[in-house]
Amino acid sequence: MARITASVYTSHVPAIGAAMDLGKAQEPYWQKVFSGYEFSRKWEQENKPDVVFLVFNDHATAFSLEMIPTFAIGTAAEFQPADEGWGPRPVPKVIGAPDLASHIAHSVIQQDFDLTIVNKMDVDHGLTVPLSLMCGQVKEWPFKVIPFAVNVVQYPVPSGMRCFKLGQAIRKAVESFDEDLNVQIWGTGGMSHQLQGPRAGLINKEWDNKFLDRLIEDPEGLANVNHIEYVNEAGSEGIELVMWLIARGAMSDVAGGPKPVVKHRFYHVPASNTAVGHLILENPQ
Ligand code: DHB
Ligand code: FE
Repeated sequence: MARITASVYTSHVPAIGAAMDLGKAQEPYWQKVFSGYEFSRKWEQENKPDVVFLVFNDHATAFSLEMIPTFAIGTAAEFQPADEGWGPRPVPKVIGAPDLASHIAHSVIQQDFDLTIVNKMDVDHGLTVPLSLMCGQVKEWPFKVIPFAVNVVQYPVPSGMRCFKLGQAIRKAVESFDEDLNVQIWGTGGMSHQLQGPRAGLINKEWDNKFLDRLIEDPEGLANVNHIEYVNEAGSEGIELVMWLIARGAMSDVAGGPKPVVKHRFYHVPASNTAVGHLILENPQ
């Protein structure tokens, strides 16, 4: 049986990827950001999964206003890094897990969540920056990845509760796959940031840190926070944080198992316009 062993949460600021690609990671500004991932890279090597189910958002790169799936699962054999205007990032292509992805699509759709099936998709910074943060600069990504895209760009966006319940359905789907696989689920994006309008540059440290506390201790209560609170408190792009609730909903305590162990927690302001938050939670074996 396949098993979700851990969940990872991290911001995806594109300038972090650019800092790595352009050899600026040692500069003092960026060093502070990357210092929060030193533990994580070691942990990821020591706890190498077979597959990462990577919940992210596309930023009008693969999808445009012509077609806006709320939840889209990548079932392809591979996914190329996208050209977001400066050429594709010089990072490895992403190797998919079509058998497991197809199984999850089947199971989750039969549990009444409508997923869009995606057989071809280039992946933008929403997916490649979390991989770079957790793996560093590598020739090949050390595991397969199932990209799972959530619309948090164009309203209406899914609620935190729907995301949390979707995570529970994903856990059931993974656990009904008949192959011994170590699967991690990652929730990415956030934390507080607003890129546009009079409030551009908004950061809310207090709200972000309460979000981290509640994600650990009270995820179901946190799932009740409505989209307007995210926008008011965490800025227009802070809504990316609902994706973290998908990963949290897939942890075993939500289904009555033991509480997850907090392996790592990090928070830093700023990286570009964004508050960087990062958590690693392990399911006790
Ligand atoms: C920034 C953050 C994002 O989440 C994003 O998608 C683009 C830019 C930023 O802080 O610059
Ligand atoms: Fe973003």
